Amino acid sequence: MKKQIAMMSLGVALLSSTLLANAQTTAGSAEKGKEAFFKNGCWGCHGFVGQGGVAGPKLAPEPKPIEYIQAFVRHTKGPMPPYSEKILSNQELVDIHAYLKSIPKGPDYKTIPLLN
Ligand code: HEC
Repeated sequence: MKKQIAMMSLGVALLSSTLLANAQTTAGSAEKGKEAFFKNGCWGCHGFVGQGGVAGPKLAPEPKPIEYIQAFVRHTKGPMPPYSEKILSNQELVDIHAYLKSIPKGPDYKTIPLLN
């Protein structure tokens, strides 16, 4: 009987963890996104604040919509390696998007006296 209960609770635990894994992603966290951006090496090609680098184009400020980023990152066949969900979860992508959105725009050059 005890064993049965143990098996049952294991089943419930497994079920709830799969449900959690498939649950809708929650609102993005810029802080976690920053971590994921560094952990997954995005910065290496796109720059520390997504400003663009030698290898990758600019991603921020004003990043493209999350749907675009998701489709691109999962299925790119170009010079950027695709990232499957196993490597980078949807939640991490949403967080990365939040991080890119949090990066402030630089000032307009017209407001900088030295440049006018
Ligand atoms: C090895 C270098 C490299 C790494 C690492 C890399 N990228 Fe890229 N990325 C590129 C290049 C190069 C392009 C342009 C490729 C193309 O247009 O096919 C690109 C394009 C993109 C685009 C599309 C930009 C646009 O405006 O169309 C997005 C979004 C993007 N990368 C996000 C990411 C994210 C998020 C990560 C980390 C999980 C990442 N990249 C890691 C090199 C890289």
